Amino acid sequence: MESRDSVPPYIASVSYDRRLYRQDVAASNAHARMLATQGIISDEDASLICSGLQSILQEIEDGAFPWREELEDLHMNIEARLFEKIGEAAGRLHTARSRNDQVATDIRLYCKEVIQDTVAGLKALQEALVSVARAHSGVIMPGYTHLQRAQPVLFAHHLLTYFHMLQRDRERFAECLRRTDVLPLGSGALAGVPYPVDREMVAKELGFSRVSENSIDAVSDRDFLVEYHANAALCMAHLSRLAEELVVWSSQEFGFVRLGDDYTSGSSIMPQKRNPDVAELARGKTGRVYGYLVGALTMLKGLPLAYNRDLQEDKQGFFDTVDTLLSTLPVFTGMVATMEVRSERMREAAGDASMLATDLADYLVRKGEPFRAAHGIVADLVRHAESQGVSLSELQLSDYHRFSPRFDEDVYEVSAESSVAGRDVPGGTAPRRVAEALREADHLLEAEL
Ligand code: ARG
Repeated sequence: MESRDSVPPYIASVSYDRRLYRQDVAASNAHARMLATQGIISDEDASLICSGLQSILQEIEDGAFPWREELEDLHMNIEARLFEKIGEAAGRLHTARSRNDQVATDIRLYCKEVIQDTVAGLKALQEALVSVARAHSGVIMPGYTHLQRAQPVLFAHHLLTYFHMLQRDRERFAECLRRTDVLPLGSGALAGVPYPVDREMVAKELGFSRVSENSIDAVSDRDFLVEYHANAALCMAHLSRLAEELVVWSSQEFGFVRLGDDYTSGSSIMPQKRNPDVAELARGKTGRVYGYLVGALTMLKGLPLAYNRDLQEDKQGFFDTVDTLLSTLPVFTGMVATMEVRSERMREAAGDASMLATDLADYLVRKGEPFRAAHGIVADLVRHAESQGVSLSELQLSDYHRFSPRFDEDVYEVSAESSVAGRDVPGGTAPRRVAEALREADHLLEAEL
């Protein structure tokens, strides 16, 4: 322990790193037991340390722990309290350890837990998406490009898009869990420790799959945190796109969904309004999450090896990102699960005959017209209908014939339903394919990552 017993507030981190207390106590317990097993400290001292830590843990959980900012950080606070509780033996806990490998261990333990929570939160939202898609599997809506009506699609097909984005997010988090799952303890300040420690024992006790392979790397890198930030940023981008669609869909202009009361608010002066606040807030919070990713990367850039105090700045942004993502996921699960899907509004919008232009071109292609020519014919036809102020389905067969003799009575069979059914390719929006996709989604939810 440093000789100084009070640090300037600028250096202190205890106001936020105390959040790592459970991990810190668990790591200290494992370390003390290992030191005793290896004969580095006595069994009696180890027992005293462990029972002291146990009562400290209790105090913290009861809100009774006397946190002192002048003691700088969480680690020094707990150690000082341990001295008060068990006396001299407390001084043996920090044998074969430095705060550098200690804090790296704490934050890796913490990160592992939140990755698991994140993966579970993602899965719950995916389940909600699948069940809403399944409950409305026959509903046709307009598919958009440039937010212009493009081609009819199944609503379920559209929703499953988000399922797949989140599936990839879930895979990315599971992937970064493997790289986070490495024990730094035993690296000391940077060079390793001059005691016969058993790192594997500590790793096993704390649930780490591996021990770090390079002591300098173990105390100086935070790339696992950057991965969490990056994955969170991408996940928020996905959620923000869904948020934007819910905002648009719940507008009076679209009216495709009605969001539940818990996810909207009224206006103080305009009683008719149902503002999609929750979706808007999620969209807004995405910016903060992006910011912390850049903050973490910039904090690492240019740091010489090994530990530098800059690394203490890894925590606040990370905690805020974790809080943001872990609160956004369940809110979206609830919002999606409870939204009222207004299928008649979607179907009505999907009935816009101009969206069948591509299908009419494909119709002509099936009758022998080359695609490029067919495309030109239909473009002229659409312009004609527009100038007459009628929809394509209201044109007479004689009107059609002015543009191509290949048109027949069966042109009136071209509809949103036939359009959707025709897209019968793997990954397409045909009902048969979407039913398959829903079953595949169930499998992905059951499968190991
Ligand atoms: N509070 C510090 C942090 O979060 C702990 C490590 C301090 N190490 C040091 N050598 N000053 O990074």
